[in-house]
Amino acid sequence: MDFIRMASFLLLIICVSGVKGLGKYITWDDIKIHYQDNDQDYKKITERLSFRNGDDGNQSRVIVVDQSGHGDSRTLQAAVEMVPVNNSIRVKIYILPGVYREKVMVPASKPYISFIGDPNHASETVLSWHDKASDRYKDGSELGTYRTASVAVESDYFCASGITIENTVVAVPGGYKMQAVALRIAGNKAVLYRVRILGTQDTLLDETGSHYFYRCYIQGSVDFIFGNARSLYKECSLHSVADKYGAIAAHHRNSEGEDTGFSFVNCSVTGSGLAIFLGRAWGNYSRAVYSYCDIDNIIDPSGWSDWNQPWRQRTAVFGEYECRGKGADRKKRVSWSKSFEFEEALHFLDTDFIGGKDWLRL
Ligand SMILES: *[C@@H]1O[C@H](CO)[C@@H](O)[C@H](O)[C@H]1NC(C)=O
Ligand SMILES: *[C@@H]1O[C@H](CO)[C@@H](O)[C@H](O)[C@H]1NC(C)=O
Ligand SMILES: *[C@@H]1O[C@H](CO)[C@@H](O)[C@H](O)[C@H]1NC(C)=O
Ligand SMILES: *[C@@H]1O[C@H](CO)[C@@H](O)[C@H](O)[C@H]1NC(C)=O
Repeated sequence: MDFIRMASFLLLIICVSGVKGLGKYITWDDIKIHYQDNDQDYKKITERLSFRNGDDGNQSRVIVVDQSGHGDSRTLQAAVEMVPVNNSIRVKIYILPGVYREKVMVPASKPYISFIGDPNHASETVLSWHDKASDRYKDGSELGTYRTASVAVESDYFCASGITIENTVVAVPGGYKMQAVALRIAGNKAVLYRVRILGTQDTLLDETGSHYFYRCYIQGSVDFIFGNARSLYKECSLHSVADKYGAIAAHHRNSEGEDTGFSFVNCSVTGSGLAIFLGRAWGNYSRAVYSYCDIDNIIDPSGWSDWNQPWRQRTAVFGEYECRGKGADRKKRVSWSKSFEFEEALHFLDTDFIGGKDWLRL
């Protein structure tokens, strides 16, 4: 008897931990707000501040941010403060149109947060700040690049859609420490859909974790997508505003064992005309791949830079597969970059690259 009881108890423990181990998934529901009668009036949001079950049966709640004071808070940061530490349900922070001039931080202790605007009018909901690397704290110490972010996200399962995140500092070429990050994302498992990320030097710090950027618009001049995350950028617009020197991707992978990299699939690459690099090897094993992209005539024919560290030519993984447009001409590319075969590109083409099976249900 005792043995049977013990055995079933053990079985129960295995089952419970098995269910827990399934983890959570990000679904479309996580970046949507539900309205009554399709009315886009936030007063009629069915789930506001109370809990409701989403399409997947899981609970979520909504916090409304409205500058005019009719919501639950006037600032985005105040809305983040309303989310409890160790939060375990999806909290959708619905941001009404307006320019929110504030610096926003989502700490690691607050997972499952979504920032939601109107996906069809992302430019009407703007989170805007203006710190640059050379700025100083009151104690005199310099901010440095990482701490300039207008919006910093350190928590897991973050989502955003229909908003603009900007750093309004305009980097002067050759200016002292003009790095000015708009978004720094360092949590694991995030989806950004129709988000506009605007800056000049170091716009998007895609720091660590696995991230999915879908139909986003990212603007910058120098290394404007940088960091060591494992990210898929699908159907995004990458827009260069470089006027002296420029590069799109500066990936920071430092060893062969890291499964990180930036994969751009079916993106469009446009710009102000100045020739820039597709990528620069920030780390020894820097990895960036462009597949099925439309690339305007704004790319330096050599395509890629070793960051003046020639040994990186042996270990950096810079690939192009089936890209179109004048900027995709590989005739004068550096010899250490690669024109991928389908088999080589395959690994980078869909959400499997970011481990999507474990956390995405889109
Ligand atoms: C919803 O809840 C179920 C069961 O609790 C869980 O398996 C599933 O992963 C959850 N989905 C999301 C999107 O959190
Ligand atoms: C949050 O979770 C951490 C780690 O489990 C725990 O140490 C901490 O006390 C929790 N904080 C609150 C406010 O629940
Ligand atoms: C690229 O995206 C467009 C829609 O933006 C889609 O129609 C097309 O099938 C995509 N192509 C590839 C190769 O994924
Ligand atoms: C990169 O490679 C160089 C040359 O092999 C080496 O000296 C350096 O320590 C490496 N950097 C890192 C961070 O491993």
